[in-house]
Amino acid sequence: MKKHIVLLPGDGIGPEILDSSVAILRAIASKFNHHFTFETHLIGGAAIDEVNEPLPKETLAAAKEADAILLGAVGGPKWDQNPSDLRPERGLLAIRKALDLYANLRPVKGFEKLLHASPLKEEIIKGSDLLIVRELTGGLYFGRPSERINNGEDVVDTLAYSRKEIERIVKKGFESAQLRRKKLTSVDKANVLESSKLWREVVEEQSQNYPDIEVEHLLVDATAMHLITQPNRFDVIVTENMFGDILSDEASVLTGSLGMLPSASLAESGVGLYEPAHGSAPEIAGQNIANPIAMILSSAMMLRYSFDLNEEADLIDKAVASCINRGLHTADLQVENGTQVSTSEMTDAIIDFISS
Ligand code: NAD
Ligand code: IPM
Ligand code: MN
Repeated sequence: MKKHIVLLPGDGIGPEILDSSVAILRAIASKFNHHFTFETHLIGGAAIDEVNEPLPKETLAAAKEADAILLGAVGGPKWDQNPSDLRPERGLLAIRKALDLYANLRPVKGFEKLLHASPLKEEIIKGSDLLIVRELTGGLYFGRPSERINNGEDVVDTLAYSRKEIERIVKKGFESAQLRRKKLTSVDKANVLESSKLWREVVEEQSQNYPDIEVEHLLVDATAMHLITQPNRFDVIVTENMFGDILSDEASVLTGSLGMLPSASLAESGVGLYEPAHGSAPEIAGQNIANPIAMILSSAMMLRYSFDLNEEADLIDKAVASCINRGLHTADLQVENGTQVSTSEMTDAIIDFISS
């Protein structure tokens, strides 16, 4: 199979972890006789430095032509004082919007060997396996009608959603639950927000079309608590953009590290983008110590969702599990009787498994 993949390394640890993913994909291509081609483009701070815009036109044009996109991470202290439209994060938001990547799937599944790498009690997190379906192109991140206002005295962010936008992500939540344990938790703040009232209404309406799915509504504040006290009550969580952003970083604690959480950002039709849930971790960039697993598992999601290469994706998942179960871990994880390795050593160990 021939596939063309656009790489957007971005900033901080982005380039290092993306290199790891490309090495893994080359191993997969050689084992299964696929032909993957890679084309690298600028985004985020790296793009601001080169061409003074966070999402250059060439990058967007190449992304639209690609079979799939892999993105490292954007942002860092170097650009934190920039005006809003010249921040690296704007590049990420712009590409999500331009490609209509409304559905961000963030699976959270712990490994047995990492149970005590989490600060949470082993008996609480054992067996936790959930999927956060985060709306990605609406809400506070994309305020209407006047975007954001900040005149130094008064500030405005608007949280806007259309019924159509809510419907499509809620459907994605139901469909995801059908492929899993058939339980959907819709998370909102319906005791306060208009957007959440409509959200709840849409979930209730849609639930008629999915009679096999058990539905519950939870408020976001309580969800934050339940996530780390009773994670096993969750199968699929569907929620709006910012709630999903916050809850997924929190949920990463179940796995032991934010560096373990992959994601897929999908459109109704058209190209998908795959990125770790974490950021550019600028304080550890360039040291060959970042955990590449979130990025590597994101590339497995790409094989699965964009290319329908399930056997290949399974092999990456298995290779990662094998390395973790042998005790290999990067510096972000503390593992009893484990062996601490660098980014490139972890990558090589995963490749060895794939190639063997
Ligand atoms: P972050 O996710 O970069 O880091 C949070 C903590 O997790 C840090 O201690 C970091 O060292 C650690 N961490 C994250 N990923 C890791 C990995 N793969 N291996 C080992 N440790 C890892 O969040 P932050 O520090 O709040 O933000 C840093 C920058 O990243 C900011 O500019 C932010 O805007 C940006 N950011 C970008 C994305 C993205 O590109 N998708 C996501 C989140 C944050
Ligand atoms: C993420 C990040 C981004 C978000 C930022 C960098 C805009 O935190 O992908 O989770 O909030 O969506
Ligand atoms: Mn985030």
